[in-house]
Amino acid sequence: MSPLDSELYGKLWNPLTYWQEYYAFRGEAFPADEWKIRSFVVRTLRSWGKRFERAVDLGCGPTVHNLFAFAPHVAVFDLLDYNSRNLEEIQKWRSGRADIDYTAYIDATLRAEGRRDVSATDMQHREAVTRAMVGELDVFDMRSPASVGRHQGYELATLFWSLEILSRLEQDWWLALESVKSVLAPDGRIILAVLLDSEGYSIRDLRYPCLNVSYDDVCEWLTAGGFRLDTAMHEFVTHGDLSGVPACANLERSSVLFAASRV
Ligand SMILES: C[S@@+](CC[C@H](N)C(=O)[O-])C[C@H]1O[C@@H](n2cnc3c(N)ncnc32)[C@H](O)[C@@H]1O
Repeated sequence: MSPLDSELYGKLWNPLTYWQEYYAFRGEAFPADEWKIRSFVVRTLRSWGKRFERAVDLGCGPTVHNLFAFAPHVAVFDLLDYNSRNLEEIQKWRSGRADIDYTAYIDATLRAEGRRDVSATDMQHREAVTRAMVGELDVFDMRSPASVGRHQGYELATLFWSLEILSRLEQDWWLALESVKSVLAPDGRIILAVLLDSEGYSIRDLRYPCLNVSYDDVCEWLTAGGFRLDTAMHEFVTHGDLSGVPACANLERSSVLFAASRV
């Protein structure tokens, strides 16, 4: 990791600003891309029809908003990130002192599962089950074999917007993908969300670079890296769809979700 990256994801990173810019949407409309992510994860987990004993989220950030969909399918979910302040934010949620309100995300998850009338009790129950599912919170550098070595044997790894941000060059992608493979059990699976066709993303006045990958690149590279693509969903959302999300209000965004299994 270059010094610039270690600063961007180190002292310049503010967990709550990230949450506010990308997830604390304004207004009534739940963000279109977040709805699509929930639908994709629910569909994928159902199609796999499997209960996972151990899963891991790599580059989890400060938030658990994606985890609610996994709670019915996973026994223990470890969360790893480069920045310890992200993990502290998650720890606050775990101990009931969160600065982040996940109500809209829990509601959307239950609706994506097909529930029509979601009560406060249903949401509290899903949040409690998700809290109980969360296992180890640990600092982890996806580019360091030493830190990867402590975490192994997972049946499922998830990466939401964290693989492409580690890379500037194609060779970095391969290094990061090797880390992913080394935490997985031999028949492990991944769920991956990747920002496509972009040089980076912004958090207020800071620019975070990422690898500019196309849909075809990701398909080709996952296959070459030893994964069979189970499902892929290519999404294009316009700023109209994301008008309530501060960082995306003026953006068009192309992204892709993959579910893949090791071969
Ligand atoms: C764009 S954020 C995505 C966060 C979260 N997955 C989400 O869905 O919002 C990228 C995350 O990757 C983490 N990260 C950056 N470099 C990393 C590294 N070398 N190893 C592990 N995590 C890293 C950052 O700290 C940050 O939390």
